[in-house]
Amino acid sequence: MKKMLEGKTLVVTGGASGIGLETARVCKQWGATVLGVDRSMTHEHVDALYKVDLSDPAQIRELVRALPANLHGLANVAGLPPTAPAELVLKVNLVGLKALTLGLLPKLAEGASIVNLASLAGFDWANHVSSIHAAEALDFDNVAEFVRTHDAGDQGGRSYFFSKEALVAWTLQNRWTWRDRGIRMNAVSPGPVDTPILGDFVKTLGARAEEDMRVMDRAGTPADIAPVVAFLLSDASGWIRGANLPVDGGMSSHLLCNIHGL
Ligand SMILES: NC(=O)c1ccc[n+]([C@@H]2O[C@H](COP(=O)([O-])OP(=O)(O)OC[C@H]3O[C@@H](n4cnc5c(N)ncnc54)[C@H](O)[C@@H]3O)[C@@H](O)[C@H]2O)c1
Repeated sequence: MKKMLEGKTLVVTGGASGIGLETARVCKQWGATVLGVDRSMTHEHVDALYKVDLSDPAQIRELVRALPANLHGLANVAGLPPTAPAELVLKVNLVGLKALTLGLLPKLAEGASIVNLASLAGFDWANHVSSIHAAEALDFDNVAEFVRTHDAGDQGGRSYFFSKEALVAWTLQNRWTWRDRGIRMNAVSPGPVDTPILGDFVKTLGARAEEDMRVMDRAGTPADIAPVVAFLLSDASGWIRGANLPVDGGMSSHLLCNIHGL
């Protein structure tokens, strides 16, 4: 039987740890050549590793130059937790992610798939549309000002929540942007996943995180998330476009049921 990702060359950011590391492993197992991008060094599960700081526009430009053409997919998994400074969170989770994605477009093959690692933290995006519109003009140079003037600072982990709200919205907005080339974009939104940054969420959200964990039967693991990312990178998901797929043990459905009185 042909493997689901055979013949594909995929870029996986954040490939050195947690969900990205497991995504790289699954993609290789499913037959892909995997090019990892991370600020940390590890060659586990990748065919080549590009050591890049995704908060630095010059390094992103250099990465785009260095990567080969005819790429079949990009998984934007790298991200910082809410305990990191707000400016840096927005740079890595949103501005750098968009810069890499848009920069790589000319190197994507017809029919390529882009997958953004959003989060259950982006669930409330519809209530932040004015800030999301304002963030469309966000660049590396004006992040500090944006953090000061919008609800995207360190307080209560808002920088992280906003980065994921804007990422979900950007994914929806790009449902058909590159349709003429068959290129599609989707997002995966995990609930709490047991990786090195789970403790950062619990620290930032305090009682709220403890309550969420009590309602859920368990936290997720990278193995719960990675096959879903790999499926979205495969041709089997070809008609899924602009979707934000919750992979959260039912938590987003639980929130929706509470909101709508089901
Ligand atoms: N763990 C969770 O509970 C959870 C829940 C929902 C969404 N997510 C998202 O999943 C993604 C992966 O998170 P994880 O839990 O595997 O965390 P992780 O810390 O294990 O992995 C994140 C990776 O991103 C890399 N990275 C961070 N900043 C970078 C930078 N400036 N340049 C290059 N690489 C950088 C790190 O080196 C690391 O390898 C993130 O986008 C995160 O927001 C995680």
